[in-house]
Amino acid sequence: MSLAPFGRRRLRVTGRRAVGAYDVLSVADPDGPAPDAGQFAMLAAADGWGGLEDERPFLPRAFSVARRHPDATLDFVLEDVGPGTERLCALAPGEDVWLVGPLGRGFAPPGEGRRPVLVGGGVGIAPLMIWSDVLGGPTALLGFRDAAHAEGATLLPGARVATDDGSAGHHGLVTELLSAELAGAEVYACGPPPMLEAVRALCAEHDVPAQLALESGMACGFGACFGCVVPTCDGYVRLCVDGPVLDAAALEEVA
Ligand SMILES: Cc1cc2nc3c(=O)[nH]c(=O)nc-3n(C[C@H](O)[C@H](O)[C@H](O)COP(=O)(O)OP(=O)(O)OC[C@H]3O[C@@H](n4cnc5c(N)ncnc54)[C@H](O)[C@@H]3O)c2cc1C
Ligand code: FES
Repeated sequence: MSLAPFGRRRLRVTGRRAVGAYDVLSVADPDGPAPDAGQFAMLAAADGWGGLEDERPFLPRAFSVARRHPDATLDFVLEDVGPGTERLCALAPGEDVWLVGPLGRGFAPPGEGRRPVLVGGGVGIAPLMIWSDVLGGPTALLGFRDAAHAEGATLLPGARVATDDGSAGHHGLVTELLSAELAGAEVYACGPPPMLEAVRALCAEHDVPAQLALESGMACGFGACFGCVVPTCDGYVRLCVDGPVLDAAALEEVA
């Protein structure tokens, strides 16, 4: 597991580009350790992130590391859903962010003889990109709500796409594509809770191992606040230190 250096690092934004409904934010992290696939970072803009009148939010936000380039540039894939992501999606090259990370536990390699199959929903594509880089481009199945969001699939070349409205790829749920890929698979999934629960239930039914990258609200990102707890078969765990990737067999359901 890659451990975060103590404290937060002030890093330079080197790029931001729109990919369909998403933004890819690139940040130079020359002195940071290489993250494991599935780990995340807490990000905040260095300026315009609270403290002044009418400014919010104050807390950093959690984002999966989507890619690490050979020059130690980190890519994050953002979906603008609120004030934090709105601010981060407005950053321009030359501005700075505060970053704490890499944090959490990422994906584990597939079991012996198992074929990795990546399953993503929406911005859940992010941790699958870096994992696909590590695994050398395994089968990837991605679900989006429509064609505009499905442009995000260009970030994971070779992926098969499903859309809710049929405007790109398979018309239906990504789990319908997964059903045909289960034999001998080890499934790695990230996406909205209903999708993850469908993946968990399908894999449990067919006795297929699965690792799920979950989300919960995170205030600190390193185990101090207990704001991120999720229930497992063995009790509550802090998702920021015990996850965000959990073994599907450890969960009764994804709520
Ligand atoms: C480990 C981890 C990795 C993540 N990776 C990414 C990523 O790669 N790209 C990305 O765009 N987002 C990612 N997220 C989600 C991101 O952290 C939240 O969407 C963030 O809180 C948004 O901040 P905001 O200020 O824009 O919106 P907020 O004001 O925090 O929230 C806006 C809306 O999103 C809902 N929301 C907020 N946080 C979550 C959450 N964690 N789960 C479900 N709903 C939530 C709120 O209820 C509200 O409706 C990740 C979260 C975690 C825990
Ligand atoms: S986010 Fe604070 S304990 Fe997990």
